[in-house]
Amino acid sequence: MKKIIVIGSCNTDMVIKVDHLPLPGETIIGHDFMTNQGGKGANQAVAVARLGGNTQFIARLGDDGFGCQSQQLLQQEGIETTYVTLTEGVATGVAMILVDEKGENSIIVASGANALLSVDDIKAAEADICQASIVLMQLETPVETLMYAARVAHEAGVTVVLNPAPFPKEPLPVEFLKNLDLITPNETEASMMSGVQVKNEATALQAIRAIQALGVKNVIITAGSAGAYTEKDGQLLRIPAFKTEVVDTTAAGDTFCGALCVALSEGRSIKDAICFANKAASISVTRMGAWRSIPQRAEIVE
Ligand code: ATP
Ligand code: RIB
Repeated sequence: MKKIIVIGSCNTDMVIKVDHLPLPGETIIGHDFMTNQGGKGANQAVAVARLGGNTQFIARLGDDGFGCQSQQLLQQEGIETTYVTLTEGVATGVAMILVDEKGENSIIVASGANALLSVDDIKAAEADICQASIVLMQLETPVETLMYAARVAHEAGVTVVLNPAPFPKEPLPVEFLKNLDLITPNETEASMMSGVQVKNEATALQAIRAIQALGVKNVIITAGSAGAYTEKDGQLLRIPAFKTEVVDTTAAGDTFCGALCVALSEGRSIKDAICFANKAASISVTRMGAWRSIPQRAEIVE
């Protein structure tokens, strides 16, 4: 089985449950506190591995306790970590996460070692990248590094998927977008990227067309409990989500992306792959946390 290579961040998440997300200047007393593994890149790598993909992760960790623990736990998930590098004297990425009663979250990331993932790190892994089936990336590591990886992968005929989260202040360079095969923004990211406020099916189609005009052929907009939108033969296709009890949506988008890549690497159509991804993500929202919420393949009923 060819590899799915995930390039991205690895964080330790510090989570507090709250009744509501605090307003600016407001102090509130929260409920339970937990520390768990997260980071968009690592979440997506774990999703790929648990759902049956042959997974390799490219990332930078700090040489602190969090970094050493993360490296071990990634390996326990069966993820290939040759290019997960511990960086001397640097902190591992950390995310402070608040989760409210409706399962909505608010997240701040201190990037630490994630910000040091470099073009040289990608050059070291270039031979592996060129032989992968899919390269999956997000935006918690430097864009120049990802741009380089996307170019190398695209030139080798490898499918390149970008989950454009968190969306940067500056627009993504055209040079980057032209090397992507598929992009998976949520509604907010799709709105920021396209300039079209996504709030229903009509605006989702407009946004997809605007993003396609930027140079990415395949666009999937994830839409929370509404599922996901894509375009086929000029028409909007909505693949509905699975109804479930929401506890915490953290890593729903990451689970969706990991699952999507596994299904695509198995040769499924985009529509079937989205359906599989909706199933996996709908399980993740029923559980607290990032890695700890991501389902195993056996949990997906098909
Ligand atoms: P997050 O940042 O919370 O991880 P996101 O904003 O990147 O998520 P969403 O569009 O909110 O992405 O959700 C991704 C996918 O997760 C959806 O397409 C859907 O499959 C699933 N999902 C999210 N929320 C729900 C929900 N309330 N019920 C069922 N499935 C959901
Ligand atoms: O997408 C969820 C992730 O965003 C969390 O695990 C947190 O680490 C931040 O990177």
